[in-house]
Amino acid sequence: MDSRPIGVFDSGVGGLTVVQEIMNQLPNEEIIYFGDTARVPYGSKSKETVTKYSKQIIRFLLTKNIKAIIIACNTASSNSLEEVRKTFDIPIIGVVKPGAVMAYKTTKNKRIGIIGTEATIRSESYSKEIKKHDKEIETFSVPCPLFVPLAEEGWTDNEISYLVAKKYLEPFADLEIDTLVLGCTHYPLLKDVIQNVVGNKVQLINPALETAKDLKELLSAGNALREDKTAPNHSFYVSDNTSKFEQIAAIALKKSIPPVEIIDIEQY
Ligand code: DGL
Repeated sequence: MDSRPIGVFDSGVGGLTVVQEIMNQLPNEEIIYFGDTARVPYGSKSKETVTKYSKQIIRFLLTKNIKAIIIACNTASSNSLEEVRKTFDIPIIGVVKPGAVMAYKTTKNKRIGIIGTEATIRSESYSKEIKKHDKEIETFSVPCPLFVPLAEEGWTDNEISYLVAKKYLEPFADLEIDTLVLGCTHYPLLKDVIQNVVGNKVQLINPALETAKDLKELLSAGNALREDKTAPNHSFYVSDNTSKFEQIAAIALKKSIPPVEIIDIEQY
């Protein structure tokens, strides 16, 4: 058994959709979350910049005596996972591989849509990972950058989010996909609007489910599950503006969180 916490990070509130799933599947684990609210969005940035940010955040999380890291950000998972795994001597799990596994297992007609940030779509991480398992699957990718500020603003289910979704998801109308990967951790916050636009026949994939499962397997295999009888004390950190984060966190996690602390992440 290992009582140390799990470090989880994202550019902002998106990674909370992964935290929610970790809390569901591993309710005894303690979480240290970092949301890079000062530098969101990551999706419009270069691979080099996203990797630099990821390394700074991992250095910060390592000061918290963590036992594993979840990159709860598709952009960082797509662009920086390989590099940070080489740099740091700690188990690091990304969200892309788990999401791709869920997608290829779900599709029946072998036509999968992928939505994500510009940097995730540009990396082709999902289509490459899906095709590794089944070359016959066809993938269709569309970047949806405006979903990120909508989620950060808490505009997840209003007229504006609906219009934005309609515009972005238009190309899927004639593509006959049966599966759509929510390839950005912010997007599950808009899942009702997205489902409404693409219709009920399309199965939405939230990679967080399989990511939490992978984490459970990793911890079980290493005999590293937290088995303390006391409830876990989660901690949340951001690089700017705590109040907005606390507000969205309460919606995303369906409960209020302890006071959020601001960290000067550039120091790490
Ligand atoms: N939530 C992140 C992702 O999964 C990053 C979104 C962004 O900052 O652009 O890609």
